[in-house]
Amino acid sequence: MRAGEVRERFLSFFERSGHLRVPSASLVPSVYDPSVLLTTAGMQPFKPYFRGDEEPPSRRLTSCQRSFRTTDIENVGLTLRHLTFFEMLGNFSVGDYFKAQAVEWALDLSTSKEYGYGFDFESIWITVFGGDDELGLGPDEEAIGYWRAVGVPDERIVLLGRDDNFWQSGPTGPCGPCSELYLDRGPDFGPESDRPGDDTERHLEYWNLVFMQYELQADGALPELPTKNIDTGLGVERMASLTQGVPSVYETDLFGPLVGLGEELSGRKYGDDDATTRALRIIADHGR
Ligand code: GLY
Repeated sequence: MRAGEVRERFLSFFERSGHLRVPSASLVPSVYDPSVLLTTAGMQPFKPYFRGDEEPPSRRLTSCQRSFRTTDIENVGLTLRHLTFFEMLGNFSVGDYFKAQAVEWALDLSTSKEYGYGFDFESIWITVFGGDDELGLGPDEEAIGYWRAVGVPDERIVLLGRDDNFWQSGPTGPCGPCSELYLDRGPDFGPESDRPGDDTERHLEYWNLVFMQYELQADGALPELPTKNIDTGLGVERMASLTQGVPSVYETDLFGPLVGLGEELSGRKYGDDDATTRALRIIADHGR
């Protein structure tokens, strides 16, 4: 499945579920936002809606947002999955549906062979927020309950801490506990003892569901937003690597031509040795 179809399947699925499809906003933040230099996620242009400052054109939105993050820049080229510039598909609820519906749709789209990505249900693992003393929040039992309700066994539900499963778009702002979907890519990518969240390659995180209900303040206070919202992020490049059955984002139809150009211009070959592979990946990522 080429990247174009990865995008279209997502956006049309959520359109059919009553979401308004909106175009990607600019990489330079389209709304006043001193917390970031560049747009880092699909939710960024919608912050005024989540805060209740502006009325959204619809309570359900879906988009494919061009995003840029420097947080992972040192990992680019070293892993199979990290990028700086990427596209993020998302479905958003502004005070409309919440956890149960987000969980149900994410599983449906992940597993449907007809209109989704056709993953085996047994290969999908889930992570859930396990609580954090500093934030004063306990484990997200509600989310665990919804994953159980759609049939995910406890063995494939992993509780993780704030670093992995509490999402904020910057040092301050709208945020909340999150729950991620991972695909187990099998023994070619690592031993069975690998687990989501342990920074190995066997389980690839492909979709993050943020249950956005707080506004983190500079002093650490965590007041509730006016509504309970959903903000999800699914990386197009990672999903393309899964649907195309290639080991890394760099071998997808999105990156193949850029890596090929790097090879042509340098006279080196991707895969020749680690340093060359890393360099060609970095050129492709930064070139985009
Ligand atoms: N806003 C959700 C994410 O970036 O993962």
